[in-house]
Amino acid sequence: MLSQKDKFSLPDDVTYLNCAYMSPLSKTVEAAGIEGLRRKSQPFRVMPEHFFEETEKLKKLYARLLHTDAAQRIAVVPSVSYGLAAAAKNARVERGDNIVVLEEQFPSNIYTWQRLAEEKGAEMRFVSAPQEAKGRGKIWNEKLLQAIDKRTAIVAVPHVHWADGTRYDLAAVSEKVHARGGLLIVDGTQSVGALDFDVSKIKPDALICGGYKWLMGGYSFGLAYYGAAFDAGVPLEENWMNRLHSENFRELVNYQPAYKSLANRYAVGEQSHFINTPMAIAGLQQIHEWTTQGIQDYCGKLIAEPLKLLQEKGCTVENEKYRGNHLFGIRLPKNMNSDKLQARFAERKIVVSLRGNAIRVSPHVYNTADDFAKLTACFE
Ligand SMILES: Cc1ncc(COP(=O)(O)O)c(C=O)c1O
Repeated sequence: MLSQKDKFSLPDDVTYLNCAYMSPLSKTVEAAGIEGLRRKSQPFRVMPEHFFEETEKLKKLYARLLHTDAAQRIAVVPSVSYGLAAAAKNARVERGDNIVVLEEQFPSNIYTWQRLAEEKGAEMRFVSAPQEAKGRGKIWNEKLLQAIDKRTAIVAVPHVHWADGTRYDLAAVSEKVHARGGLLIVDGTQSVGALDFDVSKIKPDALICGGYKWLMGGYSFGLAYYGAAFDAGVPLEENWMNRLHSENFRELVNYQPAYKSLANRYAVGEQSHFINTPMAIAGLQQIHEWTTQGIQDYCGKLIAEPLKLLQEKGCTVENEKYRGNHLFGIRLPKNMNSDKLQARFAERKIVVSLRGNAIRVSPHVYNTADDFAKLTACFE
């Protein structure tokens, strides 16, 4: 794949290496959003079928990305915390059970479980990051598996760590927690869309993703997949659209006790967001064209030499096997001053993030070799 920069409106003087913060909108996604906005200026153009058809199209596109046909296992959510809250409400946790999470995990995927643990008298089990620089990802994965025992009710983890990109072997975690009767809840916000996620292999009980990063869509819009463990659950709210036959507007006054199938009960009220839905569709169509493998290969080529160079200067970066190519942390040697480095980034309009003690770099297909030459020059 060649650089896809022409599909975006990023200015030439800004080096944007921060998709993990927020993706830029492609021109196509932006146009889809504007068209969605305009529709509301003429509400007679919004037909009853528009409340459902676009969402169904979106769910099918997303199901394909996850390697499943089960589009009805997907629900539109407004945020990751919302999707996680529905999982927490329906998860069986008893006094003395434990909930396994990782150190410095994204807060939405911690607070949800902390409250549940408090309510149920369960233990929050934080798996700390290894101190070792060498083999850090491998050791962290081993520690995660070791933390799961017969009292583990839930493992709530990401696919890659939001702060430094450490990648976890979720198929192994899934096998272990399921063998002990627990659930695997995954926050895929920092990976799905850029890194392959196969629900038929990983078998998560829930997979929640924010839509404004690697899914390339708008803010306040995400997608949640719920497995069979949640088929008979209770949603966070009771909205008309999630009930059976809600497409028939005339019949809405005949109250319907049954939910639609599978995960539909968990979709947020006003799920047919007329601006964000077409944007998310356009984003997913583009991702399907690029493919997650294409994105990984493109970013992999881009970062290979720059990372070698930074490692020669004493920086540490996780081994390829335990990170993706789209998100990684650079840890500085003691003799490098991170404040000075940050000042250089700001001066030269290089946009990366500082998360924990790592400089988080998260490229995409709009980045070029020139962007990385500018980044590495700051380390001189
Ligand atoms: C891993 C991860 N999960 C979730 C979110 C967003 O969570 P929420 O939708 O609850 O604001 C972020 C945002 O940075 C994130 O990095």
